[in-house]
Amino acid sequence: MKKLNFAIPLFCMLSCVQSNVPIYRNADASIEDRVEDLLSRMTLEEKILQMNQITLGANLNQNNVGDASVEPVLGSYITYTATDPSEINQLQKRAVEQTRLGIPILFGFDAIHGFRTVYPIPLAQACSWNPELVEKACSICARESRLSGIPWTFSPMVDIARDGRWGRCAEGYGEDPYTASVFCAASVRGYQGDDLSDSTKIAACIKHYIGYGASEAGRDYVPTEISRQTLWDTYMPPYQAGIEAGVASVMSSFNSINGIPASADPYLLTHVLKRQFNWDGMIVSDWDAVKQLVYQGAAADHAESAERAVNAGLDMDMADLCYYDHLAQLVKERKVSEKTINDSVRRILRLKFKLGLFEKPYPPVTTPEQRFTLPGDLDVVGQLAEESSVLLKNDGTLPLGLKPRKIALIGPMADNYWELIGSWGGHPLAEDIVTIKKAFSDGFGAQNILYAKGCDFDGEDKSGYDEAVAKARQADVIVLCLGERASWSGENGIRSTLALPAVQEQLAIELKKTGRPMVLLLNNGRPLELCRLEPLVDAIVELWQPGISGGKPAAGIVSGRVNPSGKLAITFPYSTGQIPIYYNRRRTSRPFMGFYQDIPSEPLYDFGYGLSYSSFEYGDIRQVGESPMVFEISVMNTGLVDGKETVHWFISDPVSTVTRPYKELKFFEKKLVPAGKTATFRFEIDPLRDLGYVDENGHRYVERGKYQILVKDKMVEIEL
Ligand code: NOJ
Repeated sequence: MKKLNFAIPLFCMLSCVQSNVPIYRNADASIEDRVEDLLSRMTLEEKILQMNQITLGANLNQNNVGDASVEPVLGSYITYTATDPSEINQLQKRAVEQTRLGIPILFGFDAIHGFRTVYPIPLAQACSWNPELVEKACSICARESRLSGIPWTFSPMVDIARDGRWGRCAEGYGEDPYTASVFCAASVRGYQGDDLSDSTKIAACIKHYIGYGASEAGRDYVPTEISRQTLWDTYMPPYQAGIEAGVASVMSSFNSINGIPASADPYLLTHVLKRQFNWDGMIVSDWDAVKQLVYQGAAADHAESAERAVNAGLDMDMADLCYYDHLAQLVKERKVSEKTINDSVRRILRLKFKLGLFEKPYPPVTTPEQRFTLPGDLDVVGQLAEESSVLLKNDGTLPLGLKPRKIALIGPMADNYWELIGSWGGHPLAEDIVTIKKAFSDGFGAQNILYAKGCDFDGEDKSGYDEAVAKARQADVIVLCLGERASWSGENGIRSTLALPAVQEQLAIELKKTGRPMVLLLNNGRPLELCRLEPLVDAIVELWQPGISGGKPAAGIVSGRVNPSGKLAITFPYSTGQIPIYYNRRRTSRPFMGFYQDIPSEPLYDFGYGLSYSSFEYGDIRQVGESPMVFEISVMNTGLVDGKETVHWFISDPVSTVTRPYKELKFFEKKLVPAGKTATFRFEIDPLRDLGYVDENGHRYVERGKYQILVKDKMVEIEL
């Protein structure tokens, strides 16, 4: 496509003077009228330009190395570096003031778990079982992003992940469709609020549509095979939840499903999203996904890629400019209709109008202090980091209390800040991130902390072991800080094993020889293989990648200032060979057979597992209502400290035409239960939603028969 001339033609200026303000410029007109008016004024070339997105600058991911050549008439830019509204305003000025129709640019950025005030990775967020808190964190992210000039984030990622080798499991809400649905809706509400034109809100983008997390062997970008019924039962629910929450955009994924690339699938993009869900939002491809149709063997060249993608219903082409280069010719050859182009452009313009970009294209120029980490923000992200942490083991060593004791703080994570942030780390400042060492020094007194790194995250160098062992011998307790580098998870962060590198495991073995009690703190972006480490230590706290709160939740939990309340949203296998392992697997034909010969067949830590410093005693499940069907369960805190408990309500359908999982999560609730007190948890059943199943076309149905309601080891049976 040849470059456009940005000069505003004389005839246009004259017509503006003679006529009234065009409808699309009238803020009082309806968005639909404005869209139609603007569309009617656009040339085919201008329409096609709106359907392209390029990048400004680059992030550290090789996949995203950017091309900085800028055309102010394109639909959207991704910016990985801009944090200052004046940078954005310069570019926006060209689009708004120097192009014929003055259509503002839609800037986007992957603010995945925070913009500047970075909070825990999404996998950790799900372990908090506190969607209200996640909503608050996302609204902080929205404010920081929008005030920096970026009104669009490529988040939340709602891919169901059941293979921890896939590094992107860090970016989603775990293995369960219901959990992912609840957190998807919470995050969309947090980003978008009720009104996208609010100067502190941004458009969300649910991704990667769809089935990307089902990639074979945890390898990124590879094909997936998903039956239609499983697609609807397992992978679609979070997208439905996001759409019901009003999400503004969806990103199509890289993978093919049953041989059809998701970015060129008319069933997924047009039939399901645009027709069946009757959704009026915009679909953007993932990075280069259109061009990659050629690698996938789905198109002979980039022209055919563009043709397949646009005809399937993909509205905006991210990065590869296949639409930019080929759509005009494809329309000329009648391979793509102008009606198809109009449908996509309508959706793009609708989003720009909804965001209020035509009225307020320029974010106010503010100082970083006015935009970032405002009073109260640290409390929200700190609480989220605390509630995301999962106590996996405790033989009574924890909490340590604050009375002076010598703590040997050992390990590659102990004095590190960057690895605590995780992948897609936003724009945190190094000085905002609290290392574990700093948090422990503040909490327990620097004089009580004996620090030694011991070893690096990987490699062969064991020369630090001796110092670590010596420090451990001088201490009353060892706190061992192991984990993963941030780059080991996230996009293309694929590992063949969930085990930590041998150099870290060996360090634990050496420290065990000192006979000191040992607490293992873990910071990582995936479930880990802990079968060798678990027997060596007295307590384990899974802290994930907590963002800028860094070591604070760790110090709080170890001291007892914080009572851990996180529970796993993803299964921790006994070892990597158990993968795929997830709680809601379908029933087997021989439940008494089919076990591994060489390892246990049960996971090390189940979905929903997590300890507390309180102990909770569950009563029986009581049915307290017939229509609607309501169930209650009482939970008593028999411990000495107040604690938060999450009750997970599962259902089971023992006999059904299409066989179902052993159990399926349908509801959860988290409450503070003061020591010695009892709280009542309640679950109101909607039979179609909670007991029903879904067919291969996405239609829900309920079968007559018996169903079980399950909470922990409690069960009641009901009959429909
Ligand atoms: C590729 C990633 O797969 C996607 O998640 C991200 O949003 C885009 N790049 C843009 O950065």
